[in-house]
Amino acid sequence: MNKSTESVKIALLGCGTVGTQVARLLTEQRDLLSARAGAPLELIGIAVSNLETERDGAIDRSLLTKDTSALISKADIVIELIGGIEPPRTLVREALCSGSSVVTGNKALLATHGPELYDLAEQNDVDLYYEAAVAGAVPVVYGLRESLAGDRVNAVMGIMNGTTNFILDSMTTQNMDFDEALLLAQQLGFAEADPSADVDGYDAGAKIAILASLAFHTRVSLDDVVVEGIRGVTADDIASAEAAGYVIKLIARAERHFDSRGEDGIEMSVSPTLVSKDHPLASVHGSFNAVLVEAQSADRLMFFGRGAGGAPTASAVLSDVVAAAAKRVIGGHAPREVLYGDVPVLPRSESMSSFFIKLEVIDTVGVLATLTKRFADAGVSMASVMQNKSGHIGDNHSLATTQITIITHQVRQSSIDCVIEELQNSDDVVEVLSVLKVEEN
Ligand code: HSE
Repeated sequence: MNKSTESVKIALLGCGTVGTQVARLLTEQRDLLSARAGAPLELIGIAVSNLETERDGAIDRSLLTKDTSALISKADIVIELIGGIEPPRTLVREALCSGSSVVTGNKALLATHGPELYDLAEQNDVDLYYEAAVAGAVPVVYGLRESLAGDRVNAVMGIMNGTTNFILDSMTTQNMDFDEALLLAQQLGFAEADPSADVDGYDAGAKIAILASLAFHTRVSLDDVVVEGIRGVTADDIASAEAAGYVIKLIARAERHFDSRGEDGIEMSVSPTLVSKDHPLASVHGSFNAVLVEAQSADRLMFFGRGAGGAPTASAVLSDVVAAAAKRVIGGHAPREVLYGDVPVLPRSESMSSFFIKLEVIDTVGVLATLTKRFADAGVSMASVMQNKSGHIGDNHSLATTQITIITHQVRQSSIDCVIEELQNSDDVVEVLSVLKVEEN
């Protein structure tokens, strides 16, 4: 490798949990990172919104500045770790236009404005790196973009949000309810004070949009992802899943398949899903992330690790910094966006899955026959039917009820929607308690 004595100047925008760890590691490990990059790496400044805020002792306060534009104008590489859409969008544009390569961990920015920023990087002959934007330390962006460049990816799915995995895992293994588990996640520092982006699925939605664009060489955005969070998952759902041999996980999924007219398309969703206990994603516990890729030749690959937290995310940021700096020294570019797919995103009605349906029904002679007929009429094949808890409703609790759980074979969402509407209007059905997707091994 060429060695340069000229330093590569690095500007850090944002000094929160991840930014602090990036600044610490850039200082403590400067020699080895510089050796890998082939040039001395120099952190020239850290842009913050408040100079007075108390900070980790690892931060050299003389590097702090509020003049972000002046800092960007002097940098070879700009690391954006502010988060959110603005001001990061404006600042990243400013950095790219001024000739700096950019390293960002900002999934919301990329999932909504990625195309404009990739184009701007190309026009200005600089690079945009974003390994830290998806699944923290887990090198899945590199894996899809470079390790799998010789293969055809058919599906990407996984657990891409540590907070919700921690909550669902605590509900499963510690018998907590949702509110208790969320509070614990907040106390342990996983969940934000406003946990909406995590628990409502948008964080995972942004990540699967980024991975789908890479996997299928087609531009897709967060708006293309059908997103459902975990607020509706009850302790009762978790117990029913357990009894049937499943655990509930928030699964982000992008899959290529044919629609009902035989046209090729991409289905993308985030949804609480029953995952069979022998599936590799079922054993991902706590706040860990895992991404499973199904490729034509490689078959199944699983990327597993810490998807959040200061040091793990900083590890991904620094791998991009070393790569960006090495390109400055030896020339050339990071792999550009390769767009040839042009595969349409399928509407929700065309998505395919097995489903878990839990009903409370009147416990009367022939009720099962009536139910199974409704499924048969809609062309939905049942894989299993179970009867569990009994209860009573009505005046003086005179009417006996029972819970029925049904797991279907693979079916289109539109067919399940029809069955559910029929069931909701049926005299035998007291309530449709849950409808969740199922992922078999
Ligand atoms: N809040 C995210 C998570 C990490 O819990 O996984 C950043 O995307």
